Amino acid sequence: MTGEAAFYNDLHLSIAEARRLIEAGADSRHAAAHHPVVATIGSDGSPSQRVMILRHVDWQKRCLRFHTDARSTKLEDLAKNSTASVLIYDPEPKIQLRLSGSAIVHREGAAFDAAWHQSTNFARRCYLAEQAPGIVVAQPTSGLPEWVEGRQPDDAEIAPARDNFAILLFTFHSLEWLYLANSGHRRARWQWDSAAADWCGNWLAP
Ligand SMILES: Cc1cc2nc3c(=O)[nH]c(=O)nc-3n(C[C@H](O)[C@H](O)[C@H](O)COP(=O)(O)O)c2cc1C
Repeated sequence: MTGEAAFYNDLHLSIAEARRLIEAGADSRHAAAHHPVVATIGSDGSPSQRVMILRHVDWQKRCLRFHTDARSTKLEDLAKNSTASVLIYDPEPKIQLRLSGSAIVHREGAAFDAAWHQSTNFARRCYLAEQAPGIVVAQPTSGLPEWVEGRQPDDAEIAPARDNFAILLFTFHSLEWLYLANSGHRRARWQWDSAAADWCGNWLAP
C-alpha cells in the first residue's frame, strides 16, 4: 500500500476527494466530472441514460444543476418519476462515483433566470430548435432554423429560445465511491443522515 493516496483507507478523506472531483466538473470543462451520465426511469420502467454537462454544484445542498431542452424525453420521465442517478468516472485517479437521488425541473423562478442569464447566446442557441429533441424527421438536420446555423444569434434573436430552456436540479442522498488501485480496490458508500445533517459512510466490499 506504499504510495497510495492519502484517502486510501480514510472515509473522511475519500468523501472529501469525491467532493473535489464533483466540484471540479462544474469549474472546468477539462474535468472528467464535467460530463456525467444522468439516468432517469422511462415511462415503461426501463432506465434511460444520457451525457449532460454539469453546470453547477452546491455541495451543502447536495445539488447538481444541469441545463436541458424543456421538450426532451427526460423531462417526461421525471414528471412521472423523479428518481434519478448520476454517474461519474474519472480515469486519471480511476475513481467511479454513483450518486442516487431525485431531480426536479424548473422553467421559471430565480434559479432558472440566473442560469439563463449566465449562458452565452451560443450555448442558448440549441434551444431555438424547431422540433422537440428525439422527434423523427425526414432529413438529417441540426434541428436549428436555417438562419442561425453557423452563427451566434443576437439578444433579440435568442429571446424565443427561453421558452424551450429548462434547468434540472438533481439532489442526491447517497454517494458511492469505487477507487481502483493495484494495492487493492476500495469501495464505500455514504448516506445522507438528515437528523445529523451529515454524511454517514461505510466501507463496502469492492
Ligand atoms: C458531450 C455531451 C454533452 C451533452 N450535454 C447535454 C446537456 O448539457 N443537456 C442535455 O439536455 N443534453 C446534453 N447532451 C445530449 C444528451 O446526451 C441527450 O442526447 C439529449 O439530452 C436527449 O436525451 P433524452 O432524449 O433522454 O431527453 C450532451 C451530449 C453529449 C455527447
